[in-house]
Amino acid sequence: MSIDLSTNYLGLSLRNPLVVAACPLCADVDALCRLEEAGAAAAVLPSLFEEQIEHDEQEINKLYEYQTESYAESLTHFPEVNSYNTGTTEYLQLIETAKKRVHMPLIGSLNGASTGGWTRYAKSMQDAGVDAMELNIYFIPTDPQMASRVVEDQYAELAAAVKDTVSVPLSVKIGPFFTSVPAVVQRVAQAGADGLVLFNRFLEPDIDLESLRVAPNLVLSSRHELRLALRWIAIVRDQTDVSLAATGGVHFADDVIKALLAGADVVQMATALLRYGPPYLGKLLEEVTRWLEEHEYTSVAQMKGSLSRGNSPDPSAFERANYMKALTSFTSEFPSA
Ligand SMILES: Cc1cc2nc3c(=O)[nH]c(=O)nc-3n(C[C@H](O)[C@H](O)[C@H](O)COP(=O)(O)O)c2cc1C
Repeated sequence: MSIDLSTNYLGLSLRNPLVVAACPLCADVDALCRLEEAGAAAAVLPSLFEEQIEHDEQEINKLYEYQTESYAESLTHFPEVNSYNTGTTEYLQLIETAKKRVHMPLIGSLNGASTGGWTRYAKSMQDAGVDAMELNIYFIPTDPQMASRVVEDQYAELAAAVKDTVSVPLSVKIGPFFTSVPAVVQRVAQAGADGLVLFNRFLEPDIDLESLRVAPNLVLSSRHELRLALRWIAIVRDQTDVSLAATGGVHFADDVIKALLAGADVVQMATALLRYGPPYLGKLLEEVTRWLEEHEYTSVAQMKGSLSRGNSPDPSAFERANYMKALTSFTSEFPSA
């Protein structure tokens, strides 16, 4: 039986649901070629930051310095990836060069938090050749006077501002920390987004106990993080027609399958590819195909969303009831005294 792995994301026809998430691999055209050869269906380029566009390049370089240092492990597969995107001109050159060598869709990425002229840069990325845009809204509220509604307005305004400048499809990458994820998904979709990426991982600052300083560093994901996206994708899948991408903790074929069953159209992966390199995509595709065969699905389209909240035999499992069940069924690893 031949299995059809194709999927649709943001109106783009993809040969399978494996998308390379924005990460340093996608800043290197040779690496992009290897990812495509190994089976990637699309790739998101690393983000160009609001601050970069606003000419605050020095600070950004510092950010990349510590990212690169803490990612020595990840870079062993790609010794040639020793810089991320260094500026707006370089970014457009990356798009142009990559478009000449890579056939899979390339998604440009903008990362910012405040409304302003920088969002118009999406048009430059479109002109340079990206097939879609991703807007990563990375906003950390610190003002107690700023109510959640105001924060959400900002998300909707940003999505609308980018959407206004481009004709290619737009996805918006959001974090999980909202009082109501479904309400935010709906607002961002109404603002014009063609899809959402759930979820952005925020940089969690650590504290260095020797220097007594805040020591921000980026840690690669663990696969347990996927549970967050699984729940919310399963819940919002039945409430919206926009595309959904799962990101954060997709490491193994099982994770890909779970995300699709919950209702994701694609998964976006960074950690696993930084750890194991592009050929790992081939192994994932083989295993996903085998699982579909064994479970008598003929296509990804057929299984997508079949365990969304609405299709699940036990919708309460995605809600509060699950919490009570989990607590009462938990058994300690230590013998009771
Ligand atoms: C080294 C590194 C750089 C990243 N850079 C970006 C970025 O520029 N823009 C963005 O939206 N996400 C960025 N991410 C987040 C990834 O795109 C992805 O959403 C996240 O790592 C979760 O996926 P994972 O669990 O497969 O790593 C980066 C992640 C890593 C590990």
